[in-house]
Amino acid sequence: MHQPVITGTGVFTPQNVITNAELVEAFNAYADLFNAENAEAIAAGEVQAKDHSSVEFILKASGIEQRFVMDKDGVLDPTRMYPRLRQRSDDEPGIMAEIALDACHKALAMAGRTGEEVDLVICAASNMERAYPAIAIEIQKLLGAGGFAFDMNVACSSATFGIQAAADMIRTGSVRRALVVNPEITSGHLEWRDRDCHFIFGDVATATLIERREDAPHGFLIRSTRCATEFSNNIRNNNGFLRRTRPDGVADRRDMQFMQEGRKVFKEVMPMVAKHIHEHLSETGVKPDDLHRLWLHQANKTMNDFLGKKVLGRDPEPDEQPNILQDYANTSSAGSIIAFAKYSDDFQPGEIGLICSFGAGYSVGSVVVERI
Ligand code: COA
Repeated sequence: MHQPVITGTGVFTPQNVITNAELVEAFNAYADLFNAENAEAIAAGEVQAKDHSSVEFILKASGIEQRFVMDKDGVLDPTRMYPRLRQRSDDEPGIMAEIALDACHKALAMAGRTGEEVDLVICAASNMERAYPAIAIEIQKLLGAGGFAFDMNVACSSATFGIQAAADMIRTGSVRRALVVNPEITSGHLEWRDRDCHFIFGDVATATLIERREDAPHGFLIRSTRCATEFSNNIRNNNGFLRRTRPDGVADRRDMQFMQEGRKVFKEVMPMVAKHIHEHLSETGVKPDDLHRLWLHQANKTMNDFLGKKVLGRDPEPDEQPNILQDYANTSSAGSIIAFAKYSDDFQPGEIGLICSFGAGYSVGSVVVERI
């Protein structure tokens, strides 16, 4: 069996930033327009008026201060409230492949490798811009990589599930060098017109290069991985290929975008993740005190504070559990990888950390790594 080692990570960050203040201003303008247009129905009690959003609420409920997006104007246009992205021809790279490629090149550069040396590409994300051909195969071609490629979707847990799949294939020898890439254009499936969730997500792409230990003088040895799922409707998106077959066809329905029962998610996912991490550490022979750092899924600051305390049995020091969600918001599967990419340089050989993501499904994935 080969040992898998993470030798490179890359982060693509879009150029456009939306601050909470800009977001709330646009939402409130949209709400005012909606309320004016529906004044009669609201007065008759047939339609519910839209309440204003607030910067104070967003920061307190989530810890998010801003988010990056692929298109800012469409999202902040009160008569539109979703991104405006150029239609590309089938002969040019798709937008997911384009941002994935940037992250992949950064991960390859960090490891001193080229795309031709890669023989597995997994595109793991919470939504794909088309059904087929796989985005991963397009990325494989753009990289000049060999071997094979495939897409997978486990929502916010896609990155860790992808790392487990790639690590297992490296262990058994079926591949030599894998890129797991997470292009997350969450702005496309966020409902920007719903104040309960309009602040949650941001866009980004991350990539993780995994090689055999014999090829990797430095990096993070993947000591073990653990994935688990348990069905829940509390985070759900009903958009899909059968949409036009339904009685109301392609109607602009609320459930065509991200929906969640936020409080239930909080209550149900936290114990599931805490138990999962404890069991994973125990199976791996790692004690919580051995952990030098946690790189957690970046959905919500209170969630991360809760988990850090549950896992370590005390309040974590800031550098033991770094957050990036204040700058990036929730970037679905990419969040824990951004945290890992930005806060792992200082690790010394022998030091151990844990990457963990969780979310829709429900799903939870964890990766125990050791600096070599
Ligand atoms: N601005 C102002 N007030 C708002 C608001 C906004 N943007 N959004 C909601 N509110 C109001 C609600 O209407 C509610 O008012 P009420 O008490 O009069 O009914 C109040 O603020 C509390 O809303 P609630 O939705 O219960 O807030 P919360 O404290 O539970 O926080 C989440 C909401 C989503 C941040 C929180 O539930 C959470 O973090 N859940 C975890 C799930 C998650 O992050 N999932 C992402 C995918 S993994």
